[in-house]
Amino acid sequence: MNQALAVDATGVTKNFGTVRAVDDISIQVAAGEVYGVLGPNGAGKTTFLRMLFGLIRPDAGTIRVFDKTWDQAGVGVLDGVAGFIESPRFYPYLTGRANLEGLALLDGGVRPGLLEEVLEIVDLTDRAERKVGGYSYGMRQRLGVAASLLREPRLLVLDEPANGLDPAGIRDMRALVKRLAGSGLTVLLSSHDMGEVEEICDNVTILNRGAVAFHGTIAQLRTMAPDPGYLLSTTSDERALALSRHHPHVEVTCDPEAALVVTGPRPEVSSYVASLVRADVDLLGFTATQTPLEALFFMLTDESRPSAAHRSEPLEEAVR
Ligand SMILES: Nc1ncnc2c1ncn2[C@@H]1O[C@H](COP(=O)(O)OP(=O)(O)OP(=O)(O)O)[C@@H](O)[C@H]1O
Ligand SMILES: [Mg+2]
Repeated sequence: MNQALAVDATGVTKNFGTVRAVDDISIQVAAGEVYGVLGPNGAGKTTFLRMLFGLIRPDAGTIRVFDKTWDQAGVGVLDGVAGFIESPRFYPYLTGRANLEGLALLDGGVRPGLLEEVLEIVDLTDRAERKVGGYSYGMRQRLGVAASLLREPRLLVLDEPANGLDPAGIRDMRALVKRLAGSGLTVLLSSHDMGEVEEICDNVTILNRGAVAFHGTIAQLRTMAPDPGYLLSTTSDERALALSRHHPHVEVTCDPEAALVVTGPRPEVSSYVASLVRADVDLLGFTATQTPLEALFFMLTDESRPSAAHRSEPLEEAVR
């Protein structure tokens, strides 16, 4: 028993027919931290969170939430837990406020003033009287967080809360999660975006095809990151390529889009670039292909390149 753990999952496995969606994973989330479960499409993130919420049962392993298991405590496991899986659902013909009022009623009422507080936290006070059908996707996601906060949870579980949002929506959602974490709430979130997890999480588990590919702090992850790659374009790519032969630790290759791709340890790359300038080969462009952590994510999850069109179809499930 560990009182300080919000979630203590051990050896959890889940099969769907012949598909092993979650393969013997163990995840410990300490109270007060922001924990990221990161992985590409189909890695098993949602399946794990559905088991945590008791929507499906693991085939093996145990999940303790604030030291309670489903077998011992039944739905009591969810005392102090709120969140949503894939996408929150609301009545589109009711206002944001009316939706929250309905949910509060279902919970037997909430303390006076809480509804206003949660609207304020998610920055929807000004839109509360509008029908949810007219909300943007980002506003609906934020209303989902507001609905969860009505339960005054100790643990907030969010399944890819920024998925499908535009850049401004992503920024707002990340800022919201950081604000919530700053107030002491434990947050467990899934994501397919290394940058997001790096920005807001303390600890991370990277899943690949249901199994744990990495588990640790963001700082530990950074130490494993490979050297970054750069796209280079110059006034003479031919000479730039020839000059790279004097820099054995730097690899320069031709990319199909006619740029040069440079990889190697940062100091060596820097000295190579300086040598180009000295040789009167001017730089027209020099940009990182991926951040080192993104490169590591793709290495760990066997993904050759980022999936720009990542977006899951929502399931008919929402757990506040
Ligand atoms: N109800 C189900 N029936 C059959 N297979 C399922 C079911 N739910 C999930 N799976 C399979 O389990 C694996 C993990 O799916 P899961 O939805 O947990 O992944 P995910 O990491 O959440 O992916 P995404 O990033 O697309 O949301 C996939 O191969 C998926 O097809
Ligand atoms: Mg999912």
